[in-house]
Amino acid sequence: MGVLDKHHVIEKNVTVLAVLSFFVVAIGGIVEIAPLFWLQNTIEDVEGMRPYTPLELTGRDVYIREGCYVCHSQMIRPMRDEVERYGHYSLAAESQYDHPFQWGSKRTGPDLARVGGRYSDEWHVDHLTHPQSVVPESIMPSYGFLSNRMIDGKYIDDLIGTHRLVGVPYTDDMVASASADFAVQSDPEGDYDDLLARYPKAQTRNFDGKPGISEMDALIAYLQMLGTLVDFSTFTPDASR
Ligand code: HEC
Repeated sequence: MGVLDKHHVIEKNVTVLAVLSFFVVAIGGIVEIAPLFWLQNTIEDVEGMRPYTPLELTGRDVYIREGCYVCHSQMIRPMRDEVERYGHYSLAAESQYDHPFQWGSKRTGPDLARVGGRYSDEWHVDHLTHPQSVVPESIMPSYGFLSNRMIDGKYIDDLIGTHRLVGVPYTDDMVASASADFAVQSDPEGDYDDLLARYPKAQTRNFDGKPGISEMDALIAYLQMLGTLVDFSTFTPDASR
């Protein structure tokens, strides 16, 4: 009599079935999860990725608060139609400083992972203020009020400190200079040398064209940075890992 002939014992006894199912699922789980504890790094380091500047991080908070992720993804999948439309597929490293990540799950609007540099600041101001003024058929809501909401960076130290707590490698220097870096990035007369030393490729200018630092400045600083940190003309995937 073979083992299979006794299978009816398992099928007719719910406790035995549950216990054995548990073991089967547990083995599958261990096989998937255990190796992660021994891997040095599950994310390939990619040149160019750096923590967000205080202003970009603030803009990212506006992005999350306003629920932009409900209509926009930030993850280009490695399929031909996506790559042709949006550019190089997203790398894990490009979201490594995102807490929480902004991959999104729905695209009512286009993917924004590489929107940085695609449009001018003025376009973004017009589009966010009245989307239909630049894209007549747009169903995107307007966010013009962001221009009138000024921010003083009072909590920027806490914000940077919190991101450091969850693993973003902000240095002591970055934490100590958070307020200054926040204030200088959108100041047209600012001295950007220190900011750029800490955050290479940071874009510095008055993003919304109005005096003072508004949520519009912060959001556009964030949007214009998206997808610009990694240089894909020199990037080669590391197949050795
Ligand atoms: C109700 C859904 C919805 C929400 C919420 C939304 N958008 Fe959009 N967005 C769209 C649609 C649809 C488009 C395409 C038409 C257009 O360009 O306006 C779009 C286009 C865009 C574009 C142009 C992208 C490109 O490559 O042409 C940007 C940038 C953008 N949205 C940013 C934002 C930001 C920032 C927020 C949050 C403040 C936001 N959106 C919230 C639906 C939305």
